[in-house]
Parts: sequence; C-alpha cells; structure tokens
Amino acid sequence: ATTLGASAAEKGRYFGTAVAANRLGDSAYTSILNREFNQITPENEMKTDATEPNQNQFSYGNADRIVAHARANGMQVRGHTLAWHAQQPGWMQNLSGTALRNAMLNHVTQVATHFRGQIAWWDVVNEAFADGSSGARRDSNLQRTGNDWIEAAFRAARAADPNAQLCYNDYNTDNWTDAKTQGVYRMVQDFKQRGVPIDCVGFQSHFTGGSNYPSNYRTTLSSFAALGVDVHITELDIRNAPADAYRNVTNDCLAVPRCKGITVWGIRDSDSWRSGESPLLFNGSGQKKAAYDAVLAAL
Ligand code: XIL
Repeated sequence: ATTLGASAAEKGRYFGTAVAANRLGDSAYTSILNREFNQITPENEMKTDATEPNQNQFSYGNADRIVAHARANGMQVRGHTLAWHAQQPGWMQNLSGTALRNAMLNHVTQVATHFRGQIAWWDVVNEAFADGSSGARRDSNLQRTGNDWIEAAFRAARAADPNAQLCYNDYNTDNWTDAKTQGVYRMVQDFKQRGVPIDCVGFQSHFTGGSNYPSNYRTTLSSFAALGVDVHITELDIRNAPADAYRNVTNDCLAVPRCKGITVWGIRDSDSWRSGESPLLFNGSGQKKAAYDAVLAAL
C-alpha cells in the first residue's frame, strides 16, 4: 500500500500519530493526518490538567473534538493518560494521602466513563518508574499514597470501561538490560500473576539517535509480550530522524506478533515537542522525509 496506515493494516497493525486539537483547523496538517494515519493519540487533551482543571469539574471539549475526528475518519484512539505525576492541575498537586488517592481514582473513573466504548487502549498509568539504576518506582505524590496506587488505577479503569485495553506506558524502558526496564517487567509479571487487569505495555521510544535506540529493543518487546501482554510503540520520535533507526524500529515491531502498532509523536517536525531536533517523518512543509520512505518500505 502507499500510505503508512494502509501498509500497517495489511500487516495487522496500526500506524498512528499524536494529534493536537488546535491543529485540526490546519488543512495541510489534517490532509496528512487523514491520508497517512489510522490511529490517534491526543497529545495533551486527555491529561489530568486538561480534563479536570478544577476538582470534580470535567472539561472534555478538546478531547472530544479529537475523538470525533478519529471516529469520522475510521481511526482508533489511544487514551493518554489517566494517572501521571506530570501535567497535574494545581489542586491535585496540592493533595496527598487518602484525599489524593480518592481524587485519582475518581478521575480515572470519570474520564474512562466519559469515553467508554470510544477508546481502544488507555495509557492508564504513565511514567511511574524512576530513571537510573534502582529499578524502583519514581517518587511522586501518587506513589506516596501507597505502592498499590498503580493496580488501584487499573482496576478502576477496567470497571469504568471494560472493553478498553489497559496499558502501562513509560520511557527509557527500551534497553532490555536497564534496571528501569527490568523494574517495569517485574511489575507486569506480578500483575499478570495476581490477576491485576493489565493488557498492554507502551514503549514511548523518544530516541536520541543511534545512541539510545538499543540493539536489544526487539528482545525487550518480545520479552514483555511473553508475559501475555500486547506491546505498543507509543510516542516514537528520533533526533534528526535517521532513516536507518526508523527502519529498525519498524522491523522490530513487525518481528514481534504482539506488537500491535507504532505511533509517532507528531506529524511534521514543526508540530513536534522536540521541533529543534527535526525528529519526525514529515518536514515543516509537510513533505515526506527519508525516514518516511524507510518506514513505508519496511511496512
Ligand atoms: C508532551 C507533549 O508533546 C508536549 O506538548 C507537552 O508540553 C508535554 O508533554 N511523555 C509523554 C507525553 O507521555 O505525554 C509527553 O508529551 C512527552 C513525554
């Protein structure tokens, strides 16, 4: 096929992108979006600060606009994200203990209920592990409510939207030998053993080029898949967008049957949160880059 989405679909996968609601009025942007992609992740619009700016006052306008665009164009939606230490509204940053735990669970329940039936995968919990050599949880206000906060979030999400696939999502979990990767692996293994409802693991894959795209990435994906979860490449971007690295990531996903798809974190370099690094598949004029051709050829 001649587009990323259609080619991925022939392999039983999706090819998606992060979308910003405030760009949906840009026809150059939406024409690439609608032509090339069959999956959308809202870049910021489903985060806690966007959806619950004041406690118990929910705000879904921008998220609903993205979901409507996806549905009108036959694209699947990844919900991002229900529980995260970052991009919390001020009121949540100021809570702790039981009040914070209950507020987090209420948020998970309310948001997952609002979108029930429209979300293929939820990033229920984002970035809960620490960088470095500890393999431990990240210190955060959510973690300080008790180590069981992650499983509590997953159970609340399952109850609210039983048909959504529930994912744990993180970065720097790509190198199989890293302590952070192993820490997440042990949590997923424990959840599967104890029946905590988890269906998938997302690998953000914000790479800085050859240096942190690890040669054992495929081993990481297949090792998690062997635990009985699907794996997703959820936020791919690579500094300077080397065609080789994009090709390798694509081949690694295709080599792992439970790797369900790839989402790039934006369409054009000018749309990227790392725009200074030109890390995406289309340049600022919307033209295909060499990395685009490499990905399409690999699919
Ligand atoms: C980023 C967005 O792209 C930016 O627009 C925003 O200012 C900060 O967040 N990991 C994640 C994403 O899970 O939500 C982040 O998105 C990038 C890192």
